[in-house]
Amino acid sequence: MLRKEQNDLLTQTGPGTPMGQMFRSHWMPALLARELPENECPPVRVKLMSERLLAFRDTEGRYGLIDEFCAHRGVSLWFGRNEECGLRCPYHGWKYDVTGQCVDVPSEPAESGFAKKIKLKSYPLVKRGDILWTYMGPPDKQPPLPEWEFCMVPEDQTYTSKRLQESNWLQAMEGGIDSSHVSFLHSGALNTDPLFKGSKGNQYNLGDMKPVFEVVESPGGLYIGARRNAENGSFYWRITQWVMPAFTMIPPRADHPVHGHFWVPIDDENCWAWSFDYKSTRALTPRERADMEAGHGVHNKNIPGTFRPAANKDNDYLMDRAAQKRGDTFSGVEGIAMQDASLQESMGPIVDRTKENLVSTDNGIIMARHRLLRALKAMEKGETLPGIPLEHQRVRSAALVLSPDQHFKEAGKEALVVQPGKSHATV
Ligand code: FES
Ligand SMILES: [Fe+2]
Repeated sequence: MLRKEQNDLLTQTGPGTPMGQMFRSHWMPALLARELPENECPPVRVKLMSERLLAFRDTEGRYGLIDEFCAHRGVSLWFGRNEECGLRCPYHGWKYDVTGQCVDVPSEPAESGFAKKIKLKSYPLVKRGDILWTYMGPPDKQPPLPEWEFCMVPEDQTYTSKRLQESNWLQAMEGGIDSSHVSFLHSGALNTDPLFKGSKGNQYNLGDMKPVFEVVESPGGLYIGARRNAENGSFYWRITQWVMPAFTMIPPRADHPVHGHFWVPIDDENCWAWSFDYKSTRALTPRERADMEAGHGVHNKNIPGTFRPAANKDNDYLMDRAAQKRGDTFSGVEGIAMQDASLQESMGPIVDRTKENLVSTDNGIIMARHRLLRALKAMEKGETLPGIPLEHQRVRSAALVLSPDQHFKEAGKEALVVQPGKSHATV
């Protein structure tokens, strides 16, 4: 449970809010690189943490993320002409470069120097992996570029998708670290989804509905350990990584690619659910890539030309009561991503956390909230936030079978950090 003030503090991320400042201290995914596929392609509207921005790629291939609206009289520059190293407002022709600098005001004499005095707000936009990343904080505090393993491996080893989620970022993120729902909500998918099925771990997952959670602080956030019974008194451990504020990596299953998410606020009532899948030591097979593109695993199908899921709240997520009754799917909604999103959106855009009744399996969520609140206090004192140092980003999730006398934190020490040349520890 959270008090109302605490819930407000964690869920509001607009300019000037403490949680907004935390998000603005990190490099965050802004858009997929494939949304700006070539020089002078159409610009893309991007709303992040309640700021309306516009991304574009100029004649030289430079990326820019600038205020969406023209400094003259507020026209959306989405209508702009992307030409000769800048975006020209179609209303009266003012032109801006990728830094937001106005470079031409055709109605004014060039010698007046008027254009030089006009500059739109802008943020850096940098490609790494499949993603264009932005940093929206003060320029003098800009951290080094992100080094999450999924965006550092060669291109043929990684795949990223995104979808709109019509809820606040925090309830989406809390779903990502809530391992106990997997045995229920996703029980059907464990045996049928091509990117999940066939792992020994699935049998442990489905065979023990009362996992014991052990949540331990990590340098960047939390290790969320879930322990289930395996053979001969040994334990099956799944260790999820949460790195502050919004990165999660889910433990692997067999040799399937490893997936995880970023949960990035669009505004206080919507977020981007970013989903990545990668292998640290081999290329994705054509089959795996095709399954990801088809919306299997943690990915989903969007309405073509948009990032809104095809199954959404306006069509009741294509609820199939017969499948629910037969048990093909536990909730009647198809696909892991939409099973999660449907229930998280059903709570309302910002769930009232004063009314919850939390139990021991919610320990990861309780500790994550606590850690975020603590970090907000530390941020006020000017301390470096967890998740910013690059070593906090060089982490891995793991699935392990351990004897009862082993603790995952010691036994999994190597498995929980990036080991170049080695694959994830998996069952
Ligand atoms: S509103 Fe953009 S040039 Fe006038
Ligand atoms: Fe889930």
